[in-house]
Amino acid sequence: MKLKIRNWVVWMSFVVSVLEGVRPIPDPIEVFGHDNKNDIKGTKWAILVAGSSGYDNYRHQANVCHAYQVLKGGGLKDENIIVFMYDDIAHNPLNPEPGIIINNPNRTDVYIGVPKDYTGDVTTAQNFYAVLSGDRSALSGGSGKVVDSGPNDTIFIYYSDHGSVGSISAMPVGDSVFANDFIEALKNKHAAKSYKKMVIYLEACESGSIFEGILPNDLDIYVTTSSDSLQNSYAYYCPGSDPSVPPVYTVRDRTTSSPVRQYGDTNMGNDFLATYIGPTPILYENTYSFEPSTTQTTLISQRDANLLHLRLELEKASKGSEEKFKAQRRLDDEIAQRDHVDNVFNLIGDFLFGEKKNSMMLHRPSGQPLVDDWDCFKTLIKTYESQCGTLSIYGKKYTRVFANMCNVGISKEQLKVASLQACLNKNHAS
Ligand SMILES: *[C@@H]1O[C@H](CO)[C@@H](O)[C@H](O)[C@H]1NC(C)=O
Ligand SMILES: *[C@@H]1O[C@H](CO)[C@@H](O)[C@H](O)[C@H]1NC(C)=O
Repeated sequence: MKLKIRNWVVWMSFVVSVLEGVRPIPDPIEVFGHDNKNDIKGTKWAILVAGSSGYDNYRHQANVCHAYQVLKGGGLKDENIIVFMYDDIAHNPLNPEPGIIINNPNRTDVYIGVPKDYTGDVTTAQNFYAVLSGDRSALSGGSGKVVDSGPNDTIFIYYSDHGSVGSISAMPVGDSVFANDFIEALKNKHAAKSYKKMVIYLEACESGSIFEGILPNDLDIYVTTSSDSLQNSYAYYCPGSDPSVPPVYTVRDRTTSSPVRQYGDTNMGNDFLATYIGPTPILYENTYSFEPSTTQTTLISQRDANLLHLRLELEKASKGSEEKFKAQRRLDDEIAQRDHVDNVFNLIGDFLFGEKKNSMMLHRPSGQPLVDDWDCFKTLIKTYESQCGTLSIYGKKYTRVFANMCNVGISKEQLKVASLQACLNKNHAS
């Protein structure tokens, strides 16, 4: 069987059903067979981005490391794979297996060999744009690798992140990669004839809305996202695989819980995946079925993944121990912080939307962009953050509110007053 791009979804669902069971996660072509079908003879490039840092976000960096192994197995060269990851997992004091990152129950190390192109402080949006556009002069730190691609080349971009409405990805450091800036960069790259075709895969909450109504379909770009603009992407946790294994999440069978969307040039869905990620040898001869598994699993929203992580830490700690005490406090803090954020947005909604508060989280009809004025959107987020602190992962579930404020003409000054009121005497970040 040949793996077409649009079947990527099926592969991802498959990965989940494997995680639930006892088998290791196979790479896509291991499942679909050796696939040399590849009409494009240029160089294959890839950019891999983990949008978060911290041990409780283990899965994002683990996913990126796994993607690197898949590409490497497909024959891509290190010089053509550019990795953005904060790199605080393998040697994290919480890692029971120092120096190793796994993303499957079989404990295969996926960290091995991963190029440390942009790590720590230099995992910024600015460097991401420099890498994408192939502009070394715009880089600040890092390995200096950029996508120095030509008209016959393919580019594969993969993000693993919590996601938030309006941005492609948070970056571990500094500003997010906002959708309008990203699409501008893609248009420029297309105009510069710097690729033949590009595939972008986003694994994050509410990732669909990013492209809704703003990605032209004539850029030779195919985008698939783990969720549409209305729904969260879900993380999957497999309890009981091994208590010493940190929580490892992946995306659920999206055909039922989180519809996958395609954007851009959807005809490219018929391209073979090997065109972008290279062929890899067959390790599994069997054909697998894609029946949903019935083994015990927990489905949780990506955004709640860290809550689950904290709950499990608490359960794991022995009764009466200092760890138990600390774990309880971390969980209490997280819950209190979430309540605080909910309250703040509730108040801001009262101030600015009044009786129309329900429209604060309104979704525009499909095909319409999230917001008409992207500068307004960015400005309002900054205005809020200047009064109330940086939006947390949980807080980002409210970014749609800022878009809706712009769409109904609420000004920066109005939001400033409202945020000041709502966040008065509250020092903690929201
Ligand atoms: C884990 O992976 C190794 C190497 O691919 C394989 O030999 C082994 O059988 C796997 N173990 C399980 C339990 O699947
Ligand atoms: C791209 O491919 C075409 C057709 O094979 C070839 O003529 C051309 O020289 C290639 N361009 C580059 C920059 O490699």
